[in-house]
Amino acid sequence: MVVELIKLSKTSDQPLYLQLYNQLHEMIKNRQIPADYKLPPIRKLAKKLGINNVTVVNAYKLLESDGLVYSKIGSGTYVTDLENKELFEGNSVLEESSDFEEVKLINQGQIEIGENTINFASATPTPELFPVDDFKNALNEVLDRDKGFAFGYQESQGFYPLRESIATYLSVGTSKIEPEDIQIISGAQQGIDIIAKALLNYGDCLVVESPTYTGAIAAFRSRGAHIIEVPIEQDGIKLDILEDKIKKFRPKFIYCMPNFQNPTGYCYSYAKRKELLKLATKYEVLIVEDDYLTELDYGERELLPLKLLDTNDRVIYIKSFSKIFMPGLRLAFLSVPQELYEGVLAAKHISDISTPGLIQRAFDLYLRKGIWQKQISYMREVYKERYYKMLNAVRQYFPQDIEFIPPEGGLTFWFKLPEGILAQDLYEDCLEKDVLFIPGSVFYPTPRSSQHFRLSFAAIYPEYIEAGIRIITKSINKLLKGKKKNRTKSYTPLL
Ligand SMILES: Cc1ncc(COP(=O)(O)O)c(C=O)c1O
Repeated sequence: MVVELIKLSKTSDQPLYLQLYNQLHEMIKNRQIPADYKLPPIRKLAKKLGINNVTVVNAYKLLESDGLVYSKIGSGTYVTDLENKELFEGNSVLEESSDFEEVKLINQGQIEIGENTINFASATPTPELFPVDDFKNALNEVLDRDKGFAFGYQESQGFYPLRESIATYLSVGTSKIEPEDIQIISGAQQGIDIIAKALLNYGDCLVVESPTYTGAIAAFRSRGAHIIEVPIEQDGIKLDILEDKIKKFRPKFIYCMPNFQNPTGYCYSYAKRKELLKLATKYEVLIVEDDYLTELDYGERELLPLKLLDTNDRVIYIKSFSKIFMPGLRLAFLSVPQELYEGVLAAKHISDISTPGLIQRAFDLYLRKGIWQKQISYMREVYKERYYKMLNAVRQYFPQDIEFIPPEGGLTFWFKLPEGILAQDLYEDCLEKDVLFIPGSVFYPTPRSSQHFRLSFAAIYPEYIEAGIRIITKSINKLLKGKKKNRTKSYTPLL
């Protein structure tokens, strides 16, 4: 069927493999070739068209890099199911996801900040909050104790005493985590990347909450994986949609943030945590739990990580220390189901051999001496103050029709603008007034405009919070006015 439709010209300026690629590309996009259709084997197609095998190989490779076909080893090349066309289109090219230069930078994890910028964009602590003296003491103690050993290569899984102290810190009641389960990593971002390397092959599917953390989107994209979005609501991921997508796409894993989800700040209900684990067991799918912030809760609810509720070894737990400790130290850990030990260890070794031993040793002392707990309490107090400053300012100044749900903790608020106003427009207007935040569009794997935006209070001194909110309010009101004017114009009768 396909062969009859292809017309190649040997006299054309365009190379044959490009002609073949372009025609197949057209047919797949127009659904002339259905999903999961097996393309003709390379040799057979080459023979029928009177061209070299290599020509067909090159055309198929290009289609594969577009995500339009996928290959099964030993079986052949198949057409991707494009029912979720836009879903897959957004997965290949990071730069395409926004027209705005600055938003592109945010997409790449970079934000340009001027001297006087009020920065609601970064969710990173300000430097004066870092426990510099405590850490200096811990470093000195390690150097006096371990001398040059602190500077050797550390074992790839991590300094054993640190794994022991993390296991003790993490085990609650009967939920025990063993030092053998723990893999030290250089930041949670590396953890996400390692999991992607260990579990994902080109064309594999995985599920993310929608919206989700941009760093995870980038890591999964870099593996050429198909990112399937499932909406998140106030009490967690939408389970009915999740189950449908699991059945349809058979994802390798579900990446989620049950506590203070980035960017929404939502927390899963206890019932949803249990249901999610049930689904993971039923369909034998793994869960990647990114716990970057559980300690920063300002409410009453106990927020147990999924890992501690997981009785069937389904959860890969990634724990960052960046938001409470010091992000520049690049320290975090993974706890993985036994079946993944070897793959994860190999991926870590390939990435950077090991996380610096000196830092691991100092952090071990830090945990054993209980300074970590002290730091958590201190950070919680500091951030709680900023949180309430923000909440009060928003309640006082933002127009009523801006929707938001106050989070129970964390560092960010997630807002929805009224119909007809895009966060990108607000972003541009605020940028001119030196106020920076993140428009919602960057938190989705597929390019789209968004009415949502995220404001973080992590990197902003309390005295600037109100000033910043007032500036954003002015911009919102200006856009609302413009909207009303446009509406009047478009509905004026032509009489
Ligand atoms: C949800 C989430 N996961 C992981 C990370 C990366 O953390 P780390 O500094 O430990 O690499 C971040 C950073 O902001 C984050 O927001």
